[in-house]
Amino acid sequence: MGWFLKFIDSSVGKKLVMALTGLFLYLFLIEHLIANLLLLNNDKGEAYTIYAEVLGSSYNIPLRIIEVGLFFCLIYHTINGTRLWLSNRRAKGIPYYENRASENSTFFSRFMIQSGTAIFIFLVIHLKSFFVYYRLGNPEDTMYQGVVKSFQNPLYSWFYIVAMIFLAFHLVHSFQSAFQTLGLRHNKYTPFIKSFGVVFSILICAGFALIPVYFLYINNTGGN
Ligand code: HEM
Repeated sequence: MGWFLKFIDSSVGKKLVMALTGLFLYLFLIEHLIANLLLLNNDKGEAYTIYAEVLGSSYNIPLRIIEVGLFFCLIYHTINGTRLWLSNRRAKGIPYYENRASENSTFFSRFMIQSGTAIFIFLVIHLKSFFVYYRLGNPEDTMYQGVVKSFQNPLYSWFYIVAMIFLAFHLVHSFQSAFQTLGLRHNKYTPFIKSFGVVFSILICAGFALIPVYFLYINNTGGN
């Protein structure tokens, strides 16, 4: 066990943990997006409410385990990313990813800590508005009604859209970087992984951003 803890605390280990937790967070994003797209179903939230009820059912042990794992991954990813950034900054005066060969020195790779911090702030607010209120509190309305109400508020909607732009900045570099960390990048699939990562990441963020745009500008009658 000692060797394992020592390994994940080494710089190679920290990078590996970043890649694995980051890819796990990707899986969550895909699931969350598919579920959120149910909001656009034009069925007064029927499908979304069924989904929210299944997800919220306290007897759903596997889902609770996944949820705890997800929360742990997010916290670990955030702390680990910040530690990597700080230690590289201390060692070289500038973050190491700003000091790598030109192949990696894109704007997005230099912006990882800033985009990550923006995502973290967004997630705290987002979890407070939805997860804490509807899953742990005593809500007076359904999750669907709450979501629609929030997205009809231009301030909340635009906050959400801007957060999705930061998420896109983070993900555009992340996908190929994680594969590079896992040693899978430098082969004939490299160009595909790179392009797929960019398109896939932008589609995920655009999909999330579509929902506030829909409730703010397309169906602004309260989802009915
Ligand atoms: C849904 C949210 C997130 C996803 C899907 C995600 C995904 C990823 C992935 C796949 C990587 C690449 C790992 C590698 O290069 O091997 C990464 C890197 C990074 N992430 Fe995240 N991330 C998320 C949230 C965050 C948050 C909240 C922070 C908070 C600070 C953060 C900070 C970082 C940093 C600093 C790096 C660069 C690590 C390095 O190469 O030094 N991320 N992220």
